[in-house]
Formats: sequence, structure tokens, C-alpha cells
Amino acid sequence: MRGPIVSYGTDRVTRFPFFKIFITVQSNLSTMASQIPSLVELVLEASSLYKQTFPGETPQIAACAPGRVNLIGEHTDYNQGYVLPMALPLVTVVVGSPSPGDDAIIVTATGHADEPRRVNFSLPNKGSTLSPGVPYWANYVKGVIHHYRAQPLPGFKAVVVSSVPLGGGLSSSASLEVAFYTFLQQLRPDDGDKILKAVACQQAEHTHAGVPCGIMDQFVSVLGKEGHALLIDCRSLETIPVPLADPDLVILITNSNVKHSLASSEYAVRRRQCEKAASILGKDSLRDATLKDLEGFRDELDDVIYRRARHVIEENHRTVKAAEFLKRGAYHEFGQLMLESHNSLRDLYEVSCKDLDCLVSAAMEVNGVFGSRMTGGGFGGCTVTLLKAHVIDRTIQHIQERYHGTPTFFVTTPSEGARDLQLS
Ligand code: GLA
Repeated sequence: MRGPIVSYGTDRVTRFPFFKIFITVQSNLSTMASQIPSLVELVLEASSLYKQTFPGETPQIAACAPGRVNLIGEHTDYNQGYVLPMALPLVTVVVGSPSPGDDAIIVTATGHADEPRRVNFSLPNKGSTLSPGVPYWANYVKGVIHHYRAQPLPGFKAVVVSSVPLGGGLSSSASLEVAFYTFLQQLRPDDGDKILKAVACQQAEHTHAGVPCGIMDQFVSVLGKEGHALLIDCRSLETIPVPLADPDLVILITNSNVKHSLASSEYAVRRRQCEKAASILGKDSLRDATLKDLEGFRDELDDVIYRRARHVIEENHRTVKAAEFLKRGAYHEFGQLMLESHNSLRDLYEVSCKDLDCLVSAAMEVNGVFGSRMTGGGFGGCTVTLLKAHVIDRTIQHIQERYHGTPTFFVTTPSEGARDLQLS
């Protein structure tokens, strides 16, 4: 039986798309890491769920958007600073079709076990607004519809599937928002501005999921570039792609598979602490502050605020330096900065936890590992490790022996940002 024909970007590809081959080669580096489903497999899964949910109908449009891993530059984005993430081959796919009327029907294949997988609601076409509610996953979608930059939208039916682990710190929520926005762009095109698209998706998270996140996750999910990490200046929103496609190098993600409940409340607390520090220092944001400024105000800052600000100021410097090292292939130096970043997140910013600390120290014990750190908001989720390709299985085995929990591993490559998929 022939496979589906799926195309993305301008490349039309068939059963053996380059994308799939590339991922398979990377995954083959390790027999111990999780296999990442190909885009074709995800589209097939979504289409088949669509046909099952809406008998006699087939989806006409499809879009996808990736999760991300941040290599360095943590908790700097909402301080107008620098970040260095890359888009992942782990993606969210949305398939669907326009339908008559003003209703949206959305079904997800993933979600928390106790939440309904299907929602119906009326689109806010007649001045009404879409309020957040339950199920929680649908709030991301409602937020994106609310902030979508070309209204009114026609009614539609859609199905969502994802290979991004939920709540694992790899931006499953940004990938859902951006995939959905990309889907809506086919339903009713906006002006195609990618930066405003990322900002609209960030707004969706603020207003409908209640998370005051920075711009990093949505930005890299929209603008990610295959074979590159992106150095993003979160103040000007300018980006510099940094090549990252050395076949002797592996970017390993280790999911601790723990998520501490502090994660979302503490995120907002950190954001407020940074704003307080900036205001005491007389700056618009900590991006404008130097260590000298900070030391000058030492007596006016309480110890916690001082430590938060110091992390942000130093992390901005580390991130810019790290991008330079990566460009030159100076992996040892890059790895050293990753470790300094982790230690600072643990000691000054206090967003790590014993699970993440254990994963990082275990990775650092292996000869051939350049650096390792927690990635994302913290309090659980994932670590990212840079290592020589030939020590991948040894590293995974060592981490498994040292870690008390049940970690999962992904061997990843920098991937392309959101894109349309053509079904035929
Ligand atoms: C979460 C947020 C991002 C960023 C990171 C920490 O992933 O969504 O905006 O602040 O935490 O770097």
C-alpha cells in the first residue's frame, strides 16, 4: 500500500521524506533513546482520528509547529535579554477543514487523562469573546483564535496530535499555539508577518492560559531553522542563526519525567522579582543593567532580589559568548558555559530541583560530554546535554544508573519552524 503524499514548505515529498530519513539517521545513533515519530506518521494519525470522529469526511488542510529546547539563556527572555534555543523534530500537527456556520469543533489525541478530548464552541464573530475554561488544553487554542490577526474566522473542524511531551519543558504549549495559528492561516490568511504571529501566540498564553511567559518558545517555534540554533535578542527580536549540524556532535534531551507543582506559580514570582530589581536599578529591564550597576545598589536590594538579578545579567553575557563559541565549534568552552548556567539557575535563580541536578551531574561524569544543564522554566522537565556522538549510549546508560527516576531520552537535531502541510 502506498503511503500518503505529504508536502511541506516548497518540497513535495512522498513516503520517504528527507525529514524522516534525517530523523531516523540521528535516532539510529542510539538504540537507547526514544524513537521520534516522523511527520508522516503524525499526519496519518491525525487524519485517521479525523475520519473516525467525523465519519464520511476527510481533512483538507494541515499544519505543524515544533517544540523547542533552549541551549542557554534561561529566564532572560522576559528581561529583554538573549536566548539560544533550537526548534525540535518533536512537533504538534493540526489537520482539519472549514465547515459551515460559526462553530469550532476541536479534538485532541493528547491531553490530561481526566480532561475531555473534544470541545465545541462558537467563534467570537459577533463581538463575543472566548473565555478560558475547561478543558485546560483548549485554552491555548481559544487564546490563539482570540488573538488571530485576521478576523472573522469561518467555522471549522480540527484534530490535534503531538509528539512533544506534555508539560515536559519542551514547549508543548507553544507548539500547540503556533501549529494552530498556522492552521488558521490556511483557513483565513493574515498578512504572514512571522514576528507578529509569535507575539499573538505569546499573548494567547498570557490571556487564556494565565502564564506570563516570555517570547522565546513561540518565537523559535515560528522561526526555527533546520541545522541551526537561533540567537534571539528578545528586545529587538532580531535573530542570528548559528549553524549546529556537526555529525560528530549530539544534542541529547533527558526528560526527568517529573514536574513539581511550583513551576507555574514560581515563574510569575521570578518575573516580578526581576521587574523589581530593574526598577530599583532605575532601568527599563535587567537587559540594560551591568554587574557594576548591581553592585552599586547592593545595599538597597534584598539578597533574593540581588541573586535573581545577578543570574539574569550574567546569563545574558554567557549566552552571547556561547553563541560565539558554537559558531567556532569550541564545544568545550560552550559546554563550560552550559554548566555555569545550570549552577546559576540552581543557586542564584533557584529554579532547579534535585532531579535536574542529578541528571546534570550524572551526564558530566561521562568522558566526551561537553556540557549539560536544565532547560526551560525549571522545577522538573528536561535537561539538555551536548556530547560527542560516539559516547551517546554510554552517556544514556550512565544517567540511567545514576538517576533514581525513569528518564526518557531524545537524540535531537535543530529543525524547521512552523509550516503548512499539503494533504493529497
Ligand atoms: C518558559 C517560558 C519562556 C522562558 C523559559 C525560561 O519556557 O515559556 O518564555 O521564560 O521558561 O527561560
